[in-house]
Amino acid sequence: MTTHKLTLAYTEFDGTSQLDADDILLLQEAWKSCDSAYAPYSNFHVGASLRLANGLVFIGNNQENAAYPSGICAERVAVFSASAVQPGVAIQTIAVVAKTEVFNLATPVTPCGACRQVLAEYEMLAGKPIRILLQGNSEKIWLLDGISNLLPLMFQGADLKK
Ligand code: THU
Repeated sequence: MTTHKLTLAYTEFDGTSQLDADDILLLQEAWKSCDSAYAPYSNFHVGASLRLANGLVFIGNNQENAAYPSGICAERVAVFSASAVQPGVAIQTIAVVAKTEVFNLATPVTPCGACRQVLAEYEMLAGKPIRILLQGNSEKIWLLDGISNLLPLMFQGADLKK
């Protein structure tokens, strides 16, 4: 019997002062997008913005629906719209921010399981780790380098071909 241990890592910043201009801009775009989220049922507003390897930036926000499961998360809106317009172009960085008036988000919000799996698909397609920037209702920012830090032991498309 062997027990395997996995390590995951993220870097915490106490504000934007140590981030480069590209990352600061992505966070700003994510916050702008967050303001346009359609979240009348949860009142939980999420904004995402991503930069592709060719420099183009795409945004997304959560879109809810009276039939709850028909809604979709901010991350997937951003990723799918990027892939629809720029298929096959690697995602370099995605920023995800969230706010709600219902309670205080002291730590950044991490993507849901479905969004992690979707991000994993595009990371595998491009063969390069996606950087993930996260911020909640405080100055704190988390940076993760690659989806394996969010979704260890992820299911991969290659598994279907074994
Ligand atoms: N939500 C996102 O947009 N991204 C996440 O990663 C977590 C959850 C949205 C979905 C729903 O509209 C609301 O937040 C509450 O779950």
